[in-house]
Amino acid sequence: MLRAVVGCLLLGVTLTPVLAELDPASGLVVDTGFEQVRAQCSACHSLKLVQQNRADRDGWLEMIRWMQKTQGLWPLGDNESVIIDYLAKHYGPVHSGRRKPLPR
Ligand code: HEC
Repeated sequence: MLRAVVGCLLLGVTLTPVLAELDPASGLVVDTGFEQVRAQCSACHSLKLVQQNRADRDGWLEMIRWMQKTQGLWPLGDNESVIIDYLAKHYGPVHSGRRKPLPR
C-alpha cells in the first residue's frame, strides 16, 4: 500500500513537466521566462508566431538578432538569456526521429 502511494507520488513528480500549464490568453507555456517573453515579445506580433516556431538556442538568438537588426526590436539586456532559455526549452527543435541530413 505504502509502496503504491510512494510510486504514485514519484510518477506525479516525473510527469509534471509533460503536463505543462498553458497561459490561456497567449497559449504560451507558463514557466520561468514566460513573463519576460509575454512582456517583450508581444508588442509587434502575436505570441502565436513565437509558438509556431521551433529552434535551439542558436536559432532563437539568430531570430532575435534579426528582429533587432531589421525590425526595431530593442536590446533585451538581462532578459535575453532568460528568454532564450525559455524558448529553447519549450519551443526547441522537434525531434522527428529521422537521421540528420548528410553533411555536404
Ligand atoms: C519591435 C517589434 C518586435 C518585437 C518586440 C518582437 N518581434 Fe518578433 N518579429 C517582428 C517582425 C516585424 C517579424 C516579422 C513578422 C512577419 O513576418 O509577419 C517578427 C517575426 C518573428 C518570428 C517569426 C520568424 C520567422 O522566421 O518566421 C518569431 C519566431 C519572432 N518574431 C519571435 C519573437 C520573440 C521571441 C520576441 C521577443 C524576444 C519578438 N519576436 C519580439 C518584430 C518584433
